[in-house]
Amino acid sequence: MCLYNKLRYLILPIRQIDSALPSSGQIVDLGCGQGILAAYLARRKERNVIGVDLDAARLPNKELANLKFIKADITKYNLKNVDGIVISDVLHHISRVDQSELLAKIAKGLKRGGILVIKEIDSKEFIRSKLTRLWDFILYPHDEISFSNSQTLTRNLKRLGFNVNVQRVVTWFPGSTTLYICTKR
Ligand SMILES: C[S@@+](CC[C@H](N)C(=O)[O-])C[C@H]1O[C@@H](n2cnc3c(N)ncnc32)[C@H](O)[C@@H]1O
Repeated sequence: MCLYNKLRYLILPIRQIDSALPSSGQIVDLGCGQGILAAYLARRKERNVIGVDLDAARLPNKELANLKFIKADITKYNLKNVDGIVISDVLHHISRVDQSELLAKIAKGLKRGGILVIKEIDSKEFIRSKLTRLWDFILYPHDEISFSNSQTLTRNLKRLGFNVNVQRVVTWFPGSTTLYICTKR
């Protein structure tokens, strides 16, 4: 595992995300990057996990019977009858309009009782959001970054038909800490 992946593995609240998602069924990791999270989620064989990312160079070429990776734009990717979706440190990489449209599409694509887990920076966390902006500037210099605050995002998710539980996780790392665990009503 390369250094970036090792660090990413440490930073991700991987166990919390794993236990928040359904333990079986179709799970989609939107903006999966190197697929660290998707591979961890696929350790449960009752899950069928798909990792989607625009950047083919990031996607791993290793697949399993219950794990596959697809190169696609998540704003255009079709979601239907999905049991669980995770979107980790990705939302702020797409425009505000695309964020709203993607969340609406996720709400439609999840089954009733399905789970959406979002890991994101909360723009109210001043120092963390500035530092995240710096990491993003180094790693993704061409991306236009649009952070949301947790109140606005929670309100929008509730409007889309989710019950939302907001948790603060991975507080030791000066980056995003907020996990939104959302259940489709
Ligand atoms: C900070 S990385 C997060 C990777 C992974 N989710 C994680 O938590 O380790 C952001 C990822 O989002 C992907 N991404 C950004 N915009 C995208 C889009 N429109 N469609 C698909 N992937 C996208 C990038 O290619 C990148 O791999």
